Amino acid sequence: MELTVKAFAKVNPYLKILSRESDGYHQLDLGLLSINLADLIKFREIDSKEIVVKTDAPIPQQENLVFKVARELQNRCGSPRRGAEIVLDKAIPTGAGLGGGSSDAAATLIFLNQLWNCNLEEDELISIGEEFGSDITFFFYGGYCRGRGRGTQIEKTRNPFKDRWIPILVPPFSQTTPQAYRKYDETHPQIDTDAPQTNENVRGGNTDPDQFTITNDLQGPVMKLNPELQSYLSPLEKTRTLQTVGLTGSGSALFGISRRDVSQEEIAGSLDKFPEAAELYLTHPVDRGQQIFRIKW
Ligand code: C5P
Repeated sequence: MELTVKAFAKVNPYLKILSRESDGYHQLDLGLLSINLADLIKFREIDSKEIVVKTDAPIPQQENLVFKVARELQNRCGSPRRGAEIVLDKAIPTGAGLGGGSSDAAATLIFLNQLWNCNLEEDELISIGEEFGSDITFFFYGGYCRGRGRGTQIEKTRNPFKDRWIPILVPPFSQTTPQAYRKYDETHPQIDTDAPQTNENVRGGNTDPDQFTITNDLQGPVMKLNPELQSYLSPLEKTRTLQTVGLTGSGSALFGISRRDVSQEEIAGSLDKFPEAAELYLTHPVDRGQQIFRIKW
């Protein structure tokens, strides 16, 4: 059997850094929202035990998260062990804070578990994912979630943004996550571990999307690292069809949440004055992390 699936991207409506652990990781309180910008991944079982990842993305196979989690799953899967050919068609920009690699990894664990008949419980798949990245857990839930701890304690909540458009603006440069956190640490030598829980109102789905403001503690540090990001943020901030705009994750992508009852044509019409090299996507929320697109025998 061959399965082709869509692995959806995410944005972070809020990201609050609460404290820093001794190993350098940070305790977070963040919102994660699935959107319909997706990588397309084809999984096909093969007779040999090999795992082959085919992709245009300029990344060596051994370093590809998809390859790493597939190999780990294969090790944990009972015999007879089988292999897979995985064709990864990337549409989600990388180094942009959109969670593409993590979404691909979660999809790989879910659908190879099925294709190989490994019968591992979801909890076990999630714990494999966690070994390879803090963002992967969310993609097992998808939709709108609150994340705590390192971002791996996920709680699915009602999605207050589901009727809104989510434009994504990707500048022509990327940003790595460790560098963004390092810059945050430099500018916040004493992290207040009793930081006020400014995002409590998001919990339980009682957020009013008409009052919502995107907040991200990494935005300041990432703007310092990339001062040119301001020339992308300023026009987005002035776009009258958008309720709120900000950075997603550790960037470099910016996104907006539209005002109530605006059409996609109105948004497209209002978003016309960005530096040319930027890529702009108009997306909307989806209620899952991935979706089967095509099944072939
Ligand atoms: O877990 P992941 O590999 O995605 O994390 C990438 C980097 O992001 C880590 O090396 C760390 O610098 C930073 N990070 C963090 N605190 C988190 C998640 C990630 O400091 N909760």
